[in-house]
Amino acid sequence: MSNPISGFSKLSKAQKIAWLTKTYFKANEQATDVLKRYWNSDNELQKLHDDFIENTISNYYLPMGIAPNFLVNQGLYAIPMVIEESSVVAAASNAAKFWLDKGGFTTQVISTIKNGQVHLNFFGNTADMTAFFGVVKPKLIASISQVETNMKKRGGGLLDIQLIDSTDTLDGFFQLHCTFETLDAMGANFINTCLETFAQTLEREAKTYKAFNTSQTYPEVVMSILSNYTPECLVRASVSCHVDLLAQKDLDGRLFAQKIVRAIAIAKATPRRAVTHNKGIMNGIDAVILATGNDFRAVEAAVHAYACKDGQYSSLTHASVENDIFKMWIDLPLALGTVGGLTSLHPLVGFAFDLLQKPNAKKLMQLVAVAGLAQNFAALRSLVTTGIQKGHMKMHLMNILNGVQATDAEKALAVTHFTSHQVSHSAVIAFVEQLRA
Ligand code: MEV
Repeated sequence: MSNPISGFSKLSKAQKIAWLTKTYFKANEQATDVLKRYWNSDNELQKLHDDFIENTISNYYLPMGIAPNFLVNQGLYAIPMVIEESSVVAAASNAAKFWLDKGGFTTQVISTIKNGQVHLNFFGNTADMTAFFGVVKPKLIASISQVETNMKKRGGGLLDIQLIDSTDTLDGFFQLHCTFETLDAMGANFINTCLETFAQTLEREAKTYKAFNTSQTYPEVVMSILSNYTPECLVRASVSCHVDLLAQKDLDGRLFAQKIVRAIAIAKATPRRAVTHNKGIMNGIDAVILATGNDFRAVEAAVHAYACKDGQYSSLTHASVENDIFKMWIDLPLALGTVGGLTSLHPLVGFAFDLLQKPNAKKLMQLVAVAGLAQNFAALRSLVTTGIQKGHMKMHLMNILNGVQATDAEKALAVTHFTSHQVSHSAVIAFVEQLRA
């Protein structure tokens, strides 16, 4: 086993790599070469990426693809997606094209409230705490007046602070539940600064509050942090058309609609299916979140918590057939930003925003929801008709060919051959071996 290293972060990039190579790769320079192949020759761009995180040694590429032809509220979009899974962009593009002549996608932002909490310990008299909160609330609000100035000028800021008595779930547990409008910013820094200011103000004021002084029982701040669970920051995307328009090859439109409704009912009935169903939705969502420089971990956490809101992990999408009209929709809690953070730093994020016609946060919420719904429709469409492997393996063919370093000529022959033969790893290898023999 190697020895721990201290001061790693202080080493230069070259020193870090030299240490890694010596310690973990038996000084084999091949490891260094791999890292260097991914360095950008544009020093300025490389420096920008180096500075995003600590201890950067290289760049990790993911493909950026485009799913065109998304008709959303009568506007046409080409949606950028960053993802490694072969069939995701193709599936999104197929769904976009499918709905293009059926009215496209309709979206609606339901609400944009974000929230955070100051978590408190208080083991005294609840009535004292409630009375104290009544007195201190205006002081808490006043204490962030400077922090809020710019946000308020733009029409956002703090919405409210409530004291929540959570002692029924945890002994001595109270919260300041704070709600915010952060407009086009995801708002993490703004919210966390406000919360920490509230925490300091509350502890300071508590020290001189008479009832606490008398009983010598003061509220104590445990931590102050935004919540990534944002069920009040909600967007809906939907598609709808007459069932006759849904006819598939060898499948009547009404039957197809019923199969989609049934597939969603199954995802609602069992978490085993719901998790995979929602994973497919996240294929679309995460890809757009990454392309637009947003925090996909925050979105994942919020979305999966939302999928449990009724007590059991369930489908994020819904579908119905009423009076011959098929409808499918998704509601998602998406706290996104189009200013601040990586959004203004990463050149490809800048490209993505230009491509999306410079969306504000509300517009981005809508486009991300559309990507999620489209992905689910595409997955279910395959699942209830041909099965997913046909399309998936077709897209995966190139990965298998690249894995055996197939030449362009071999790839062309393989693509032609496998349009009429089933793709499997072994079948592709056998085909290439046969060509080479
Ligand atoms: C694969 O990445 C996603 C699917 O499994 C989603 C689904 O089953 O709905 C195809």
